[in-house]
Amino acid sequence: MFKKDFPYFSNNESVYLDNAATTQKPQIVIDAMNEYYTNYCANTHRSSYGNSNKATSMYEDTRKVLKEFINAKSINEIIFTKGLTEGINFVASSYAKKFETIIISSLEHHSNIVPWHMQGRVLGKDLEVVKYKENLDFDYEDFERILKNNKNAFVSITHISNAFGKIHDIKRITTLAHKYNAIVLIDAAQSLAHGKIDVQDINCDFFLMSAHKTFGPTGLGAIYIKESLLKSISPYQTGGATIQEVSFEKTKLLDSPFLFEAGTQNISAVIAFAKSLEYINDIGYENIEKIEKELYVYLHNELKQIPDIILYNNETDAIGSKSFNIKGIIHDDIGILLDKMKINVRVGHHCAQPIMKELEIKGTIRVSLSFYNDKEDINKFISALKRAIFMLRS
Ligand SMILES: Cc1ncc(COP(=O)(O)O)c(C=O)c1O
Repeated sequence: MFKKDFPYFSNNESVYLDNAATTQKPQIVIDAMNEYYTNYCANTHRSSYGNSNKATSMYEDTRKVLKEFINAKSINEIIFTKGLTEGINFVASSYAKKFETIIISSLEHHSNIVPWHMQGRVLGKDLEVVKYKENLDFDYEDFERILKNNKNAFVSITHISNAFGKIHDIKRITTLAHKYNAIVLIDAAQSLAHGKIDVQDINCDFFLMSAHKTFGPTGLGAIYIKESLLKSISPYQTGGATIQEVSFEKTKLLDSPFLFEAGTQNISAVIAFAKSLEYINDIGYENIEKIEKELYVYLHNELKQIPDIILYNNETDAIGSKSFNIKGIIHDDIGILLDKMKINVRVGHHCAQPIMKELEIKGTIRVSLSFYNDKEDINKFISALKRAIFMLRS
């Protein structure tokens, strides 16, 4: 029903079930990028002629749209980056470095592990990992124990696991962390495509987003930083567009958001990102959540019936991604056969090797859904999977 809005689906016969890696882009997003390059390509925040002013105001409009979209208090709290990975590196270098302990969950993406390792933090030495329980549930007792033992902590936690679709209750996590005066960053790479976000209600301190996982362009991310923290963050990169005044003696920097957006930004992507958010608003999160939950449960129930399937979490508190293995079959082999049958899923560790190691597996087969998928996609995938298993067992 919604596929007609996405040109990719008219140009490809394959069944696209790799939405956690990146989502497809609606025509209006592609048009907005084309329109910028075709009709008013100019740099922003510098020159004062017509197209330059237009580019600046379109760019700044996205900041306003995103502010409203996640219910931030002020546009100064919204900063554009070149992706979520850059966002975490930015916060790690510009702010979180000074904390004694970083606390992460077991379900983190490498983007929320490696930057901490690069600071010399390893498990048990300035880096703590919250345990998980059965069904990959977040272990709140373990979290509280870690918070109690680490008085100067920065909590950096994913909202929705890209590998398993597991949803963390980020409001509960933030509330508990704040009780122990910890600061909280939420990795929301997998969030905006699936459900409504209100950063004031969550009350997190940093909220990091990825445009390309939200029907927007690649090479773009955004960070929400709670206003009260802005003055205590110094930019990890500076240069053009960040300054009020420069002489050979000194530099006077601008305030947020500009001091955090050094150099020429991904202007067309920022402008087009507003269209992705408007597109989501037009469909409505109520609809998106309803469609996706139904698809997720359907997929889970279909998978459950496959002999020798290994599932790692059930359908509760999960959305988007579903990971599994088949006993005695290497996930890569299934991936190769599914590709031949024009089914696009990701097989492997999904940039989450530590949890794979915990589960004593090398990887999984991951199906990741979006609201534009339908039961027919799932049926095609299930019958291709059964064929692949049959071929590998014969
Ligand atoms: C949970 C999570 N965090 C971070 C990232 C990195 O996001 P980006 O591609 O915007 O750098 C991803 C991408 O897969 C992700 O799923």
